[in-house]
Amino acid sequence: MPEVVLSAQNLVKHYPIRKGVLRRTVGQVKAVDGVSFELHKGETLGIVGESGCGKSTLGRLLMRLEEPTAGQVFFEGQDWSGASPRETRHLRRNIQIVFQDPYTSLNPRMTVGDIIGEPFEIHGDVVPKGGRRQRVQELLELVGLNPEHIHRYPHQFSGGQRQRIGIARGIALNPRVLICDEPVSALDVSVQAQVVNLMEKLQDELGLAYVFIAHDLSVVRHISDRVGVMYLGRMAEIGEEDEVYSRPTHPYTQALLSAVPVPDPTLRGKRDQIVLVGDVPSPANPPSGCRFHTRCWKAQDTCKTLEPELEPRPDGHGEHLSACHFAEPRVIVETVDVSDLQPDARFVSTETDDAGAGFGVEGGGEELDSGQAEDRARPPATEDAVRPSDPTRVVEDTTDNPR
Ligand SMILES: Nc1ncnc2c1ncn2[C@@H]1O[C@H](COP(=O)(O)OP(=O)(O)OP(=O)(O)O)[C@@H](O)[C@H]1O
Ligand code: SF4
Ligand SMILES: [Mg+2]
Repeated sequence: MPEVVLSAQNLVKHYPIRKGVLRRTVGQVKAVDGVSFELHKGETLGIVGESGCGKSTLGRLLMRLEEPTAGQVFFEGQDWSGASPRETRHLRRNIQIVFQDPYTSLNPRMTVGDIIGEPFEIHGDVVPKGGRRQRVQELLELVGLNPEHIHRYPHQFSGGQRQRIGIARGIALNPRVLICDEPVSALDVSVQAQVVNLMEKLQDELGLAYVFIAHDLSVVRHISDRVGVMYLGRMAEIGEEDEVYSRPTHPYTQALLSAVPVPDPTLRGKRDQIVLVGDVPSPANPPSGCRFHTRCWKAQDTCKTLEPELEPRPDGHGEHLSACHFAEPRVIVETVDVSDLQPDARFVSTETDDAGAGFGVEGGGEELDSGQAEDRARPPATEDAVRPSDPTRVVEDTTDNPR
């Protein structure tokens, strides 16, 4: 097992709810409520879960963009909370973040060269002053952009290219860990594939470890070595990608997986679907015991009072971590060994970019001239080029709802 680079121990973040003229605290939003995991060198840990379950808060806590209410983050065994200012700078350099929205996360008044080179101003020892321009150009090249565009502004690039700029900035200080908060969610599907491919290439070349936060279960499956499923501020299940997707034991994971769209129309309506009823409870007032019990079809009396521990539980093949008293594997969609199959068409190439051929540019693909920054139609992607060749197939020819 590779060494652990980053670990979270019982991380908690509660935000006060204030009301009235005096802004009195009347409650707490329990955004993250006791999350622990380890991230190994060079691996990708995917984090999935419904909106509001605390994924982004967790990402910010790992980077120390926010102070945790309780719990600890360790980088290479060092407790971040006890770090001196000098040690904190070292830690910051090694853990970087890439945000979701390539349109708002880059300062529109700064050139790309200044955006990517800004971390060098703060960490002056990484690249000597005279070598910074060259280093920025190297980084542009590394992420598939034209190094000559160092003086351009963010609005002169497409969404996919802007996300590449965000990634170049993220890796500028040679970090060990990159926290990626929905890095491809704002991009259209063919561009998503280009950026995911770039991230995989960089991981291989630079030995980076990723925490990859996303909604899209197929993208997470594609890029992740291990996957953690969050529900209302806690980890419901965590394990190897194959364990979580092929042998999920937590009812919440099973429900999430059953909602993944099936691209093949002949299979639609045949899968083992689990429809969750009821809204997600408020994180200000999470249910007692197992916080999934208000929506769980397997809930029993004990679930209302006794909170299940996240611990190894049998999954029919071995065991992996799951926080359910009645954890048992359930096949939602059978997964076949994909190694001999044609790869997912969305993820086949690392060389072309967002716009691909037709725009006549190298590396970074779509390029907008300074005078024509307005949107341009993308070349029509063939349906086959973007449709995932889903390596999943239905095993239970039934529509029965477990409820
Ligand atoms: N600064 C803040 N102050 C108060 N509450 C916050 C703050 N940041 C997040 N929250 C609350 O914490 C909970 C978790 O938010 P978070 O953004 O981490 O969720 P998420 O899983 O990233 O959701 P999404 O998938 O929509 O991005 C939400 O209920 C949110 O309203
Ligand atoms: S502990 Fe009970 S309520 Fe929670 S997921 Fe398991 S069966 Fe459902
Ligand atoms: Mg978020």
